[in-house]
Amino acid sequence: MSSRFDQVPDRRNTHSYKWDQSEKLFGNPDILPLWVADMDFESPPAIKKAIEGRAAQGIYGYTVMPDEAWDAITNWFTRRHQWPIQKSWLSTVTGVVTALSLAVELFTEPGGAVILQSPVYYPFYDVIKMNGRQVAANPLLHHNGRYEMDYAHLEKLMQDGAKLLLLCSPHNPGGRVWEREELVKLGELCRKYGVIIVSDEIHADMAYPGHKHIPIASISPELAEITVTTIAPTKTFNLPGLPAAYMVTPNPELKRKIDYRIKALSLHMTGFFSPDMILAAYNESEAWLDELLVYLKGNLEFAVDYLNRELPAVKPMVPESTYLLWVDCRGLGLDVTGLKELMYHKAQVAFNEGSTYGPEGKGFLRINLACSRSTLQEGLARFVKAASALAGSKTE
Ligand SMILES: Cc1ncc(COP(=O)(O)O)c(C=O)c1O
Repeated sequence: MSSRFDQVPDRRNTHSYKWDQSEKLFGNPDILPLWVADMDFESPPAIKKAIEGRAAQGIYGYTVMPDEAWDAITNWFTRRHQWPIQKSWLSTVTGVVTALSLAVELFTEPGGAVILQSPVYYPFYDVIKMNGRQVAANPLLHHNGRYEMDYAHLEKLMQDGAKLLLLCSPHNPGGRVWEREELVKLGELCRKYGVIIVSDEIHADMAYPGHKHIPIASISPELAEITVTTIAPTKTFNLPGLPAAYMVTPNPELKRKIDYRIKALSLHMTGFFSPDMILAAYNESEAWLDELLVYLKGNLEFAVDYLNRELPAVKPMVPESTYLLWVDCRGLGLDVTGLKELMYHKAQVAFNEGSTYGPEGKGFLRINLACSRSTLQEGLARFVKAASALAGSKTE
């Protein structure tokens, strides 16, 4: 039976960051783009309808979030993640990366060390470095085909003075859904050394069956007290072009500093579409999300099977959440330039090149699975064909 997600929308000439920049970024207009993390799927019908209705009003004035919209957010996290957040813990920001940057600026000193666990979503580096702080990298350990945290090295970084940790939960790339014991252990270290946790949970809703995302702040009041969590509906419902993200903390001291800085930068106004979008997303689109997750799981299984069968030199890391597939391509024996050449010119496909996620990502590629199965199939086929030709030419 065909699914609504099987449709192949034409996103060219829509000012799409992913579809309309191939010539500029990769020097090849014919590329099939499976990189930046938005989905080639229409948002849920309820959201489209709400946004169309709002757009039709014609007056695009300053906007306020009604109580029902705040309730929609808090109810969602209570229902879906067993994390009973309160409206008074939330601060509005335009995006999650903005929130991470604000937290780094607010809770560390210039020149101070900020921990991240690499490889990681590349803006984590930017928000540390571009705020004049030092990256304290705790490289993830690659164990049994998945990433795990290196607690001994983490403790060393904290002993050396790092006072803030940027947690990516679920993790991008690699797709780990951190388990309770892992988060508890991490939290104990942070409490011992007075480290604030800034937990980016934008991928919270994307966990696959069999995996349960646990908001680190939901584990105990003691952990909630030292944590600022960033949440957003934008990954879940494919709305990243519209500003909507929230910083969450029950700690009044942290919250006061956050709100003051947000006000100073005048980032506090809510987006024009946000209230209607939030209501339609969190109150009316849950069934759509469950359907999406089934489709994505199908894409994931398809991609992993295909790569294992057709190109055994590469090793996909099966994600527990996110629609991103992190593939170890070191078996192809190419350096960064070689991998780019293979993707952009030989295969005519664009995945994310791994070294942008940190040195540990060298030799890896990240594939965006959030497209129709036929598009995914085409992208993988292009890559496998070009990579196989390369391997053939090496042995000739
Ligand atoms: C871990 C993570 N954080 C944040 C973002 C982007 O958030 P925003 O667009 O709200 O800044 C992404 C997008 O891919 C992401 O993967």
